[in-house]
Amino acid sequence: MNTDNSAPIGIFDSGIGGLTVAHKVKDLMPNESMVYFGDIAHLPYGDKSAAAIQAYSIKVTDVLLQQGCKLILIACNSASSAAFELVREYVGSKAKVFNVIDPVVDHVSKNYSNQKVGLIGTKQTVNSNAYEFRLKQLNPSIELKSLATPLLVPMIEEGFFENRISHDIIEAYLKNEELDDIEALILGCTHYPLIKKEINKFYEGRVDILDSATIVAKKLQLFLKEQNLLTEQKFLKDRFLVSDITASFEASAKIFFHKEVHLEKCPIWD
Ligand code: DGL
Repeated sequence: MNTDNSAPIGIFDSGIGGLTVAHKVKDLMPNESMVYFGDIAHLPYGDKSAAAIQAYSIKVTDVLLQQGCKLILIACNSASSAAFELVREYVGSKAKVFNVIDPVVDHVSKNYSNQKVGLIGTKQTVNSNAYEFRLKQLNPSIELKSLATPLLVPMIEEGFFENRISHDIIEAYLKNEELDDIEALILGCTHYPLIKKEINKFYEGRVDILDSATIVAKKLQLFLKEQNLLTEQKFLKDRFLVSDITASFEASAKIFFHKEVHLEKCPIWD
């Protein structure tokens, strides 16, 4: 186990989605340095088989371990639902592993007893029933209604938000009767905080929108503190590795971190 507190936190996703989590992690813990991996070559994960997502996740995890990460945060619901156990087993005692589903399920189970809660996510996340399964164990009084919304990731990756097209797609999904009368909606994909404003507008404040980025970052901070893994040193340097370079990733990274972000191509699939 890498017990060096100043070691980086490794964070990965298929694309820009995990940046929503990475950004909150840095906001809360500015001294922590991170190595972000965007597996753009395989975007979107959500339409792939569980076996494929597991293979990608292990390979990316290897890269993050080579960087000496003290913790690996799977900042992707699709990979968290398909590969968390496998990654944890693979990593063993070399580092801690954190997913983005458990902190949200924990939050929902404590705050929405006897209520109806909605979940939107990729096909992989919804079809895996990972949220239902965990929530039933913690609080069976909650009725979870899930809807796969596969058009949202490509829409966001292509920069379509806060415009007419995104408005129509979001409305078409949220009008689905599965989501009628919910008290809260889980954004079960780390890309979705980027359209949180539009989702809020649709519900006009009637539904709590649960943004996993904030919930996960807070839980992670607590976890690192409990494990004595918070760094005491001054922040070193963040690195952004990608399996393919796209203009949209570069632009989004700049927007999130308010500065030029240097992307390093890491050709693990060549
Ligand atoms: N951001 C990822 C998630 O949380 C999925 C995006 C994708 O389908 O690649 O599920």
